[in-house]
Amino acid sequence: MDTFKLGENFMLGTATASTQIEGGDTNNTWYKWCQEGHISDSSSCFTACDHWNRVKEDTELLKDLNVQIHRMSLEWSRIEPEPGKFSAYAISHYRDEIKQLLANNIQPLVTLHHFSDPLWFQNMGGWKKPENSELFIGYVRHVVENLGDLVAEWVTFNEPNVYTTFGYELGIFPPGSRNLIESIKVKAEIIKTHVKLYNMIHKIRLEKNFKGKTMVGAAMHLRIFEGISRMGKITAKIVNYAFNELFMVGMTTGRLMFPLAGKGYRYEKGQYADFLGINYYTRNIVEFALDPSNYFHQLISDKNLKKSDLGWDIYPEGIYMLCRKYYHKYKLPIYISENGISDKNDSRRAQYIVNHLAYIAKAIDEGIPVDRYYHWTLMDNFEWVEGESAKFGLYKCNFANQQRIPRKSAEVYAKICKEKQLTEEMIKSFWK
Ligand code: NOJ
Repeated sequence: MDTFKLGENFMLGTATASTQIEGGDTNNTWYKWCQEGHISDSSSCFTACDHWNRVKEDTELLKDLNVQIHRMSLEWSRIEPEPGKFSAYAISHYRDEIKQLLANNIQPLVTLHHFSDPLWFQNMGGWKKPENSELFIGYVRHVVENLGDLVAEWVTFNEPNVYTTFGYELGIFPPGSRNLIESIKVKAEIIKTHVKLYNMIHKIRLEKNFKGKTMVGAAMHLRIFEGISRMGKITAKIVNYAFNELFMVGMTTGRLMFPLAGKGYRYEKGQYADFLGINYYTRNIVEFALDPSNYFHQLISDKNLKKSDLGWDIYPEGIYMLCRKYYHKYKLPIYISENGISDKNDSRRAQYIVNHLAYIAKAIDEGIPVDRYYHWTLMDNFEWVEGESAKFGLYKCNFANQQRIPRKSAEVYAKICKEKQLTEEMIKSFWK
């Protein structure tokens, strides 16, 4: 490794999602999912971090971290509590939140869909009914018309591969289906919707003469899949295709690859991303398994690697491998839209950050434009299936009294955000 400089133009920040931090909303699919008892520690997103009432306090936390950028999401069910009826109150709440970021020189990147849907949308058949995507498009139109003067940068969908695999194939996210055919249709619908949104967001911001360079993309969950045995290698290729590639190609070029392309879809090659958003966490070794319930594969962890609290292998070189691969394929700037670790005792987080950033520095050094790094996440929050038990925060959150307490790693991260480099001391203490 030659240099650990990230460069003056590199920007660092944090990422959050509304359902995981806001609390208090009963009108979204995750609220119902929690009520039905699907969360492993029985907690609910209804509690979360009460961020809805603590925006000011949480903006102070961001300031203390010296971040220049912050990725947040909007709760569709709050902004559109009933189909076609928009809440002026919710819009003004988000305007205020975003203004607080801007007043502190923190540039927002706003996610429009991050795993949760309004209950009314699910009751109407959700993404399983192709005509319903117009409802989401209408919602986004309203959002961009009303917030687009403050926000230039948008993520259409967060981790559409996780959303569809977990929600429609494995049944562990709402709506809890296990139906591959249905999932394939939903995947295609999401890609087509992304393409329409890409065009629409650009058009609205241009027509309304909103300031700032419009940047639209998706946040893709990308994993390294590696096979060791002969069958494992073949299986890893298939898993990589189904999990990483279908959406990466779709969200970037608009192309529906097999098996997504259905009747009546005319593919016109285009570019529907201004950046490649990469959420990177881990690597899996893949093995073939004669188990149709798990779609004929098994994900194995590597005994030689350190793990997060959730048992995820820590594999920092993966971030470099993905940046290199996809930059050479698409020649687009890269935003690491998420990267982080569940680490309750904070014994690995600083090292995790330093090692991943060191590999990003290596990519930058080779001329790959990795422009941004959004650390997941600001504070412990509602981690979907694992509920409150998974601790991804730079700040510890005590859910009983809503106290936020900085972890040691927050100090390290604040220093990196300020200096935009990994100091010698950091390298000595944390590298590898
Ligand atoms: C990716 C998801 O976007 C986010 O919501 C989640 O909390 C993190 N991964 C950690 O699992």
